[in-house]
Amino acid sequence: MSYIEFKDVVKEYKMGEVSIKALDKTNFEIEKGELAVVVGPSGAGKTTALNILGGMDTATKGKVIVDNKEISSLKEKQLIQYRREDIGFVFQFYNLVQNLTALENVELATQICKKPLDPKTILKKVGLEDRMKNFPSQLSGGEQQRVAIARAIAKNPKLLLCDEPTGALDYKTGKQILQLLQDTCRKEKMTVVIITHNQALTPMADRIIHFKNGTAYDIKINENPTPIEYIEW
Ligand SMILES: Nc1ncnc2c1ncn2[C@@H]1O[C@H](COP(=O)(O)OP(=O)(O)OP(=O)(O)O)[C@@H](O)[C@H]1O
Ligand SMILES: [Mg+2]
Repeated sequence: MSYIEFKDVVKEYKMGEVSIKALDKTNFEIEKGELAVVVGPSGAGKTTALNILGGMDTATKGKVIVDNKEISSLKEKQLIQYRREDIGFVFQFYNLVQNLTALENVELATQICKKPLDPKTILKKVGLEDRMKNFPSQLSGGEQQRVAIARAIAKNPKLLLCDEPTGALDYKTGKQILQLLQDTCRKEKMTVVIITHNQALTPMADRIIHFKNGTAYDIKINENPTPIEYIEW
C-alpha cells in the first residue's frame, strides 16, 4: 500500500439545482518522502484534491488514505487532530493572522504540534531574519507568502501541502522558496505536494500528477529529479 492513496474520489458541489463535479473518480498515489508536483489547467480540481488530502474538505465518494489512516472516514474531532499534527498547508492566498507578527504567526502554529522546528531558524531560512517583528500589513506580498511557508514547515508535518506557493513571488524569491521546499523534503524526509501552473517546474519532482476535468491522469515517476538550481523558467 502506498503512503498516500486517492481511490475513486468524487467531490460534488451542489448549488441549488446545479451540481458541479470538482473531482470525478480521481486516482493517484504518492510514496513517503516524495516531492510530488501537481499541474493542470484552472478549474481542473487541483485545490479541491489538496484540500481533501489536508482534511479541510471531505470527499463525496471514494477513499483517501494517508499513512495507513483512512482520512475519508475520520470524525470531525479526529480530522482536527490530523490537520493540527500531520499537515502543513500553504494556501493559494496566504492566510496570516493580521494582529500577530511574522514570528508570532509561526510560533502559534508550532504550539499545537508534537515535534516542531525552531520558528526563528525557519524564518531565517526563508530570508526573513530582519522581518520577524513585522506585522503582515508591514510585509510585501512575497514576504507574507514566505511567512506562510515558514509557518507550514516549522510544524514539521508528515505532509506538506502547497497550493501555488510561489504565485506571488518574483523569480529569484520563488526559486529560493522552491529550493527550501526541495531541501526540506530531502533532509527532513517530509512528503511534499506542490500545485503549480508552471510546467517548467515538473523536472524538480519525484512524481508528476497531471489534472484535467476533475481527474488525475498521466502520472509520471521521475527517477532523477533535477535540483531546482538547475531549472530555469
Ligand atoms: N466551494 C465550491 N463550491 C462550488 N464549486 C466549487 C467550490 N470549490 C471549487 N469549485 C469548483 O470546482 C472546480 C475545481 O476547482 P479547484 O479550485 O479545485 O480548481 P483548480 O484546479 O485548483 O484551479 P486553479 O488553478 O484556478 O486554482 C471548479 O470548477 C470550481 O469552480
Ligand atoms: Mg487552485
